[in-house]
Amino acid sequence: MKQPTRLNHPPEVTVPDDNRALVAPIYQSVKFTFDSVEESQRQSRGERDGFVYSRVSNPTLRQLELTLAELQGREGCLVTASGIAAVQLALLALCKQNDHVIFFAEMYQPTRYIVRRQLARYGVRSTMLSIEDTAGIERTLATTPTRLVVFETPSNPMLKVADLGAIVAAARKHEALTVLDNTFAGFHNYGQFDIDVFVHSLTKYASGHGDVMGGAIIAAKSIIDGMRADFVVSGATLDPHTAFLIQRGLKTYFLRYERQCENAMRIARFLATRSEVKAVRYPGLESDRGHALAKQQQRDFGTIVTFELAGELETARKFSNALKLFAISASLGSTESLVQPGELMRPRDLTEQERAWAAVSDSTIRLSIGIEDASDLIDDLTQALTVSV
Ligand SMILES: Cc1ncc(COP(=O)(O)O)c(C=O)c1O
Repeated sequence: MKQPTRLNHPPEVTVPDDNRALVAPIYQSVKFTFDSVEESQRQSRGERDGFVYSRVSNPTLRQLELTLAELQGREGCLVTASGIAAVQLALLALCKQNDHVIFFAEMYQPTRYIVRRQLARYGVRSTMLSIEDTAGIERTLATTPTRLVVFETPSNPMLKVADLGAIVAAARKHEALTVLDNTFAGFHNYGQFDIDVFVHSLTKYASGHGDVMGGAIIAAKSIIDGMRADFVVSGATLDPHTAFLIQRGLKTYFLRYERQCENAMRIARFLATRSEVKAVRYPGLESDRGHALAKQQQRDFGTIVTFELAGELETARKFSNALKLFAISASLGSTESLVQPGELMRPRDLTEQERAWAAVSDSTIRLSIGIEDASDLIDDLTQALTVSV
């Protein structure tokens, strides 16, 4: 072999079966080969296992899919290049012209865009409600044949807790599918409910370090298989190296999430004692209106704490600017604590009535709690409250 040929056909290194790598290697290869045309054909006819092209599947992506499906308590999973790609793919794959979708004012704004703008272009009708309007959900399901109920709980940023049992039962009764964006509560929550499809942003708690993006759709194998052809042509494939980093992040998922929840509870309790704070929203507080429901349906109370400062826009701005450990940043689920004042979370696509459901005001503050020492975070909040209110 001449040198240019050799460089393109390097020596193979085989690892003995009893000498495995402790950490699975990254399959950073777009293409996979077979030893013969016949084997390649057998694979494409589904008569044997194997991989062909990474946009379709790849062993590193497959490992992440298996991990996430098991964590959420379902059989099937597709990983995507971002969380919103998972939302969009799930909704596009599950709907057709003239279907009707129920969704909510308290949802992630780009999800509302997908339902109200994109699906609408393809003739999908929709009704937007408040996530706390359980009676309205039942009434709409009873009067309008509905394909999907798409929702989130606890809601962002006001942490309203949806009655999962009631929503799932009503959807089943009226033969609608439920799609839960479970990014906030995490993979370890809600698997016990008869929810058809979970979507997640892996950008948050799964990767955990705020340095990569990804998404996942998790459901029964039959539902995932039904979406596969749409997934392959969407092009929203996750890169294997990113999948590897997310798989690595998942090793500390519970350590991080549990620590974040512990810190969040301490911070919520602290804020509730302060005169500069008008109200605290955290489902872990016994006084929170979602507490009883959250206690019954969640394993923990989450890592986000939202509160209302005594004051207006200027106070919230001063408070956010004064914080030293909480970075002013969108998103959540990082190891670092983050802050978002109400003026950066105003829903721009809602009417006044719908905005009242979302309930974000100029004095709202959302904290995404990290894994730092809680007493340092409380000291930082104390100094910012003292200088701003
Ligand atoms: C609830 C929820 N769903 C979906 C997404 C979208 O995820 P990504 O940013 O990974 O596309 C986000 C992002 O903030 C989110 O908060």
